[in-house]
Parts: sequence; C-alpha cells; structure tokens
Amino acid sequence: MPVRLLITCCLAGLLAACKLMPKEEDKKEEKKASDKYAGIPGRKWWKEAVVYQVYPRSFKDSDGDGVGDLKGILSKLDYIKSLGVDVVWLNPIFASPNDDNGYDISDYEGIMTAFGTMADFDALLKGMHERGIKLVLDLVANHSSDEHNWFKQSRASRNNPYRHYYHWWPAEKGKPDPRFSFFDVDGSAWKYDSTTKSYYLHYFGRKQPDLNWENPVVRTEIFNMMNFWFKKGVDGFRMDVIPFISKDTSFPTLPARYHGDFVRYYANGPHLHEYLQQMNKEALRNYDIMTVAEGIGVTPATAHDFVDEDRNELQMLYHFDGVGLGYLPGQFKQVDPKGYSLVAFKEIYSRWDSTFAQKGWGTIYLGNHDQPRMVTRWGNDAPAFREPSSKMLTTFLLSMRATPYYYFGDELGMSNIKFDSIQEYRDIETLNMYRKIKKEGGDLVYFLKGQQISARDNGRTPFQWDSTEHAGFTSGMPWLKLHPGYKTVNVAAEEKDPASVLNYFKKMVRLRKSNPVLVYGKYQLIDKDNPSVYAYARTLGNEQWVIVLNFTSLGQYYTPGLPLKQGEKRMVQMGNYSSYAPGTMLPEGNLLLKPYEALIYKMIK
Ligand code: NOJ
Repeated sequence: MPVRLLITCCLAGLLAACKLMPKEEDKKEEKKASDKYAGIPGRKWWKEAVVYQVYPRSFKDSDGDGVGDLKGILSKLDYIKSLGVDVVWLNPIFASPNDDNGYDISDYEGIMTAFGTMADFDALLKGMHERGIKLVLDLVANHSSDEHNWFKQSRASRNNPYRHYYHWWPAEKGKPDPRFSFFDVDGSAWKYDSTTKSYYLHYFGRKQPDLNWENPVVRTEIFNMMNFWFKKGVDGFRMDVIPFISKDTSFPTLPARYHGDFVRYYANGPHLHEYLQQMNKEALRNYDIMTVAEGIGVTPATAHDFVDEDRNELQMLYHFDGVGLGYLPGQFKQVDPKGYSLVAFKEIYSRWDSTFAQKGWGTIYLGNHDQPRMVTRWGNDAPAFREPSSKMLTTFLLSMRATPYYYFGDELGMSNIKFDSIQEYRDIETLNMYRKIKKEGGDLVYFLKGQQISARDNGRTPFQWDSTEHAGFTSGMPWLKLHPGYKTVNVAAEEKDPASVLNYFKKMVRLRKSNPVLVYGKYQLIDKDNPSVYAYARTLGNEQWVIVLNFTSLGQYYTPGLPLKQGEKRMVQMGNYSSYAPGTMLPEGNLLLKPYEALIYKMIK
C-alpha cells in the first residue's frame, strides 16, 4: 500500500476511534463533576440521568419509505451523544400492524418491519453502549394487537388454550356493563365477536384487546419476554398504562358519573401491586436497569406504593397532574382559551416534589408522544417568543429535583404544526374522536380548533435535521407532514448558532450534571402566589442556587424572594438572554425580567 494511502487510512481509523473516545478535557470535567457527588446518600444512576425520548417513526429514515427506522437512529447516535443525555427511551419498536403506532404489538420479540430487523436492533444497542448511552424500551403489556397469535387463538374457540389470555364476556350473560374506550368510534370498550358469540374488552382501540393478567400464564409470558430483552442488554422499561393491568374482572355496574374518575374504576385493581412485585422478582431485580411507570391516575397518596425501594416494585413513575392542567372540564382535550394558571402549575410541581422529598424519586416532563409540543402548550410559539420560552421551559425541566424526560425535537424548539383539516391527521385518537363526534352530530369545527393545540400528532411530526427537502428526515414522502418551520428550525442551523435553543439545551444538561445541587438539592418554592414568575431555590449542603422563570410575554419587575444576608451576592450561572452573563453578579435590588426570561444564580459569600 502506498505510504500516503496508508497514512490516510490510519488517520481515518484514528478519527473514528477518537469520536468514541472521551477527550482529555471531557474526562477532566467528568472527574470534577463526579468528585462533587462524593458522599451524597441514596445515589442512583437513574436519578442523575437525563432521559431523551425518541419517537422512532419520526426520528430518521434510512431507506426512503418515509418512516423513521432503527438504522436511521444508528446513523444519528453521535448527535444524541452530543446532547450529553444518558438514556434514550424508544417508543415501541416491536412487530405491529400500527393501529396505534406500535402500541398494538403482534410479536413482543420481533421488530416492526418498517423499523428494520433484530440485527439492526442489536447494532443500535451496541452503538449506544459504546457511547455510554443506555437504552430503555416501552413495555406495552396491558393489551396486545388483535393480530398477535395469542389473540388469534383466543378468539378462535371458547376451548382454545389461549382463550383466557384475554377478557371475554359470553353473550348469553346479556350485554356487559358499559366500559369506555379511549379510541373507539362508539366509545365502547366491549366489542362483540361473532365467532364465539362473546364480547372482548379493549380499553384502547378495537385492535388492542386487553390482556388478562389474572391468568398466571399470561404473567409468565410477559416476564419471560422482559427477560429476553434484558438478556440482550436493554437497560430498562417505560411501562405503558401499567395501573390498568389489574382490573375488577367481575365488571360490575359503575356509578352513573364514573367518567370523572375512570381510573379508579378501570385500573388499580385488587392485584396490581402483587403483579408488580412478582414482575420485580421474576425479572427486574436481576438486572441493573431502570423502570418508569406511565402513572395514569396515580396520586401523591398512592405513588409510594409503586416506587418506594422497600416495595420491590418499580423505581419511578410519571404523573398526569401537570400535563392535565388548563383543559376545560368535561370536554375532550379543549384548552381553556384564557390559558392556565401559573400558581396552579407551581402548586402541582411543588406537591409532587414534596411527595418524594423523603422517600422515592420523581420524574418531570412537559412533552412526549402523547402531548402537543411543550413550547406551544406551556410557552409561546409566536415568532418573537418561541426561542426564549423554549429555553425557559428547558431551564425548568433541567433544574427540578426529578429525573427529566426530555422529548426529541424540544431541544430545537419545535412547535405544534396545527393541522387545518382532519385529512392531515394520522393518529387513531384524533381520527376516531372526530368520527365519534361526527356520528353524534357534535361541533367538528370546535373539535378541530382544539386539536390544533392538544392533538398528539403535533408532537409526532418528523425531526428536523436540516433545511433540505423533508428536513433531511427522509428521501421519500414523510408519513406525517413536516412542520414548515424546518427551514430555520433544524439541527444543522442550530449547531452553528451559539445562541440557539439546541446549544442552550446542551449547556443546561451540562450544568445539571456537573452540579449535584440541581439533581439532589432540596427544593423550596419562593413567592408561591406570584402569577407570572416561578422561582425556587435548590439547596445542597451549604450550596444554594435560585431559579427564576418568567412565564409571561411581558417584562416583569421581580423582587428576589430570598433576601440577601450580610455580605451575600447573587452570581449568575445560566440565563436565556445575554443580559446576565454566567459568572457576573446580579444587581442587589429588583430585577427586570425580559419576556420568558430564565435565570439561575448561586448565592455566594
Ligand atoms: C399510552 C401511550 O403512551 C399511548 O401512546 C398509547 O396510545 C396508549 N397508552 C395505549 O397503549
């Protein structure tokens, strides 16, 4: 081989290896940060982690079919690494007919054809682990797809060995007591099946029959499947609607107004914790993994039963109190035009902080695949405010005492697409609710207006890599329309701009991870009745930091809630405007906060 070619090859190999190897300065920074954590009690890697959620359908398409896939994610691992996050949570990637974008699984140990193969999965897991990133999968075990072999068998005859894998109600007993289904055109969770003259239960779509956890064989199947993924090296599970797995299977008549409290009657059945303890024993406890429950209907009073260490069940859960704020009561996801109350918002997040102040550990999120874009719902997506309010919300998420679950695209400041017509939607929830309202002669214009703010598809539009056609997401036709803002809101542009939302996110991740006060520090709400500014202190040992967030589009005079003690000063650590640079001291009197300004400062002597 000619010498020049040899040198080039060696250099290329070296460069590739360097990409994976932490740089000297990075190592020094990591060491400094880890020294700061020494001696903190109750430390766990999943408490210190920043979780980045990737919706695989919309992240990166490698083969031009318009659908994101595993090879696509693999090709972007260096981007994920560059964010500084520790864990990736992937929405379901298992074989599925896709009635609910993978939340309807037809083979728990197979990969969805559109996403790739098991070999692609193995390569992805390896690539993540090589970069020090952990991978958490989605466990969808309350229901399967009706195309799963278990259900095909189950519906074939009343004597089939799989019959009791699902909940059946024989027609000769009369019509079962009504149950509500989230995604059914008629709103009914019982579907009549003529083959065996029985009804089956489906809390979600008709193609998502509920599994019967009362049957011990079903539980064993699920635990075996979990072990299958753990043995591959997967680092944990996010557990879909897990409180639903145990139900009152006598299906009694419900009180007339049960809708206000469906979780009480539909979920949290008598054996829920027994099943979770069994799951822990049969699968979870054997691995160094993390678990997080989708805690639908879980309250501060019931949360400890799921996550306290001595319960031997799960580690974390996420609640719905925060994301449920600001909707009009009794209406389907219609946001109150008057907006939401910041005082109520603070009350919710403070209550959940105090829930876990002594025991257990919390989570925090403002966006995910079931939510609209956080900047539209909780900030302000008008051109003048999209960037500062995205950064302000990022500051909030990364400075609370709870593991942050950060949704892909929010780091770019992606906002709701706000579709004009039903034809543009792909989500079973919006489509079937539309059909239901239409059948009932309801107000479709009002419904569609509401969906522009709250529909799940707003958070599912393809990721924006660059300003080329289809934002570099695919060379084909994207499965869901791209947000037209991609020409300027994209990775390529934001990587180059030091003041971008993306670079702000990276800085906030670094700040959190290198300062344990932001992870473990005690949280104290300041000025709880201020309707415009959310301020709180975080204290660890003799270190105290204060976070001040202006949640409005107006300037605000703010009198710092914690008065300065003799000789004390406020040293800026982070801010989303250039007015206060890190390291500078704040003036002693009032602060004039700009619209959606976020400031973090440290009290120093
Ligand atoms: C909750 C999931 O997050 C959502 O996307 C899904 O539609 C339902 N569970 C049903 O699995």
